[in-house]
Amino acid sequence: MSERTFGVPPLRDGLAVSGRGIVVVRGGRRIVDEVDVDVVPRRILAVTGPSGSGKSTLLAVLAGLVAADAGTIDPADPADRAALSGVVFQSYGLLPVLTAAENVELPLQLRGLDRDEVRELAEIALARAGLPDIPDRLAEELSGGQRQRVAVARALAVSPALLVADEPTAELDADTAALVLHALRAEANSGAAVVLATHDPEVAALCDEQLHLVDGRVVASPFV
Ligand SMILES: Nc1ncnc2c1ncn2[C@@H]1O[C@H](COP(=O)(O)OP(=O)(O)OP(=O)(O)O)[C@@H](O)[C@H]1O
Ligand SMILES: [Mg+2]
Repeated sequence: MSERTFGVPPLRDGLAVSGRGIVVVRGGRRIVDEVDVDVVPRRILAVTGPSGSGKSTLLAVLAGLVAADAGTIDPADPADRAALSGVVFQSYGLLPVLTAAENVELPLQLRGLDRDEVRELAEIALARAGLPDIPDRLAEELSGGQRQRVAVARALAVSPALLVADEPTAELDADTAALVLHALRAEANSGAAVVLATHDPEVAALCDEQLHLVDGRVVASPFV
């Protein structure tokens, strides 16, 4: 069984990711356009900007899920970044016919942990995301906000070196959003590098740095 104390994430080495001149082209258009970005262990970077400005695409690049078309990223191999990342997808990406707990357990099983530890870590992560009472409900039966918290729990459960969270509080009421932000801060305090996308200036203000995108380009943030 894990020796971790309930709710306190384990200390770890975070993954610093540094991008220079990142470009992603889709449909003949630069949807991410010459972006410089640094994601730093123990800190939370907020990526802000209007709908369609390239936030999700940039986060997917940082997490190693989408290849950049130009620019340099350190570490360079997307697979190296993906292997160390926990990702909260904007559309959650849950498997609908698995339960909440099974969705959170999946990445832990893939890491080869034993069954008892998988169960315990998933239980802790669900509680930290504010969902202690629904482990056996199917994902397809959950509300949008509940699904979002299962997605957060799935990312927390693996104690990622890089935590990439795409609008992790968009569906949540203020109290639940605060709980999720508290969990992300705890991940940073334990060593993780954290990057989140948000539309919410109040969420961005709680982060350590901001990167504001308009049409794929970094511009001065209107929120600071
Ligand atoms: N595969 C694709 N082909 C063409 N255009 C794409 C593709 N993927 C994304 N885009 C476009 O790239 C732009 C950036 O998309 P992205 O999802 O990164 O924005 P976003 O800032 O996350 O938006 P939102 O706030 O709505 O989540 C959008 O205009 C989108 O329509
Ligand atoms: Mg998005």
